Amino acid sequence: MAFRTIIEPFRIHSVEPLRVTSESERRELIAGCGYNLFGLRSDDVMIDLLTDSGTGAMSRDQWAALQRGDESYAGSPSWFRFRDAVQELFPFEHVIPTHQGRAAEEILFSVVGGAGRVVPNNTHFDTTRANVEATGAEAVDLVVAEGLDPAANHPFKGNMDLAGLDALLAERSKNIPVVFMTVTNNSGGGQPVSLENLRATREICNRYGVPLFLDACRFAENAWFIRQREPGQGDREVADIVREMASLADGMTMSAKKDGLANIGGWLAMNDPTLAEKCRNILIRTEGFPTYGGLAGRDLEAIAQGLKEVVDHDYLQYRVRSTEYLGEGIVAAGMPVVQPLGGHAVYIDARRVLPHLSPLQYPGQSLAVALYEAGGIRSCEIGTVMFGRSPDGTEKPAALDLVRLAVPRRTYTQSHVDYVIEVCVEVAKRAGELPGYRIVQEPPALRHFTAQFEALA
Ligand SMILES: Cc1ncc(COP(=O)(O)O)c(C=O)c1O
Repeated sequence: MAFRTIIEPFRIHSVEPLRVTSESERRELIAGCGYNLFGLRSDDVMIDLLTDSGTGAMSRDQWAALQRGDESYAGSPSWFRFRDAVQELFPFEHVIPTHQGRAAEEILFSVVGGAGRVVPNNTHFDTTRANVEATGAEAVDLVVAEGLDPAANHPFKGNMDLAGLDALLAERSKNIPVVFMTVTNNSGGGQPVSLENLRATREICNRYGVPLFLDACRFAENAWFIRQREPGQGDREVADIVREMASLADGMTMSAKKDGLANIGGWLAMNDPTLAEKCRNILIRTEGFPTYGGLAGRDLEAIAQGLKEVVDHDYLQYRVRSTEYLGEGIVAAGMPVVQPLGGHAVYIDARRVLPHLSPLQYPGQSLAVALYEAGGIRSCEIGTVMFGRSPDGTEKPAALDLVRLAVPRRTYTQSHVDYVIEVCVEVAKRAGELPGYRIVQEPPALRHFTAQFEALA
């Protein structure tokens, strides 16, 4: 490349206004929703980095594809375009469309889960864990040690702990219906998994006769990291790397709200016909007929087009570089972040930014509230609030207390990112004064979505 600046490889086609608010207004708004950022109206948020899920901008060609949406109940051409686009990258025999990723998880685990069962994963995402545990099964996280150290600089911190997996399978393989690999590892900092680790995981699964599934939400970002970081992969097409990832698995769950570049959608796919039939029977009861599964024909079209765009190298280079740029700015602002920078988000190490707070005083929540109050930025705590409550109601510190700034795809410009960095500089100056929080009200599961908080004196 002749120039250092990697530009957004698109022009803006239609715009959405942002409402500018004042700090005093925001202090009132966040107090009014019990200091839970999920409780805010999005109009009251200036830069919304709560999630990269379903929040991206669709392309001109995706909007055009919506017009082609055929809403026939059964056998719509939109279904066949969707199925073919999925199988082009993930050639699994059976593709089962769902309205989003967690619906695919719910269906799969209600078939293979149950009391006494164990599901290993490099790291379960929160909905994945909740869907495993809802069946009475146990969700076990087995990421490599580097994945738990926010400062460790390893190219594939999402990798599975192979010795740990082998030991667990040796002891309990009869009760392990499936091994999962999350690419990239969202809850562990958006870190990728190498092809080498996927191959070794596959080999271990083969030895014990247990199927391997991908939680493939950010498959294209994972493949881009493989291309950039794994020896011998630098000349390959990303689509080709994705197909190799798929070839190492027996099935997948997917949220098309991430690397499907769509605002809604997902799927479950697998090779095993008996499992597929059981899943389809649940699909018909809970989501819809197997050729639309909880989605409109137009959504199927948007996803089919999104899957073509997401493996484009110019898009992926811009995507990963713009996340890196945000991360570099936050580090320069004095806040340590999970290293190396992941593909879809920057994860601030809140425990290190707020060392005066213990994990049970929720440093991640405190920092997330401060970013909103100071600059109208909405982020997401990924730590003790999200993971600290055990199914029996007791509480313990999560492995990490992070604040995730997730970057919606193709949505914000570099000046938005520069503003976020400036807000971080300001919050870093106030870090020593930020209060801890306690929970005053919480539901029995997935408490971070609705818990109410109070600042500690
Ligand atoms: C790794 C991972 N798995 C599963 C899901 C669930 O997908 P959805 O939000 O579409 O239900 C998410 C969503 O953020 C995720 O990041």
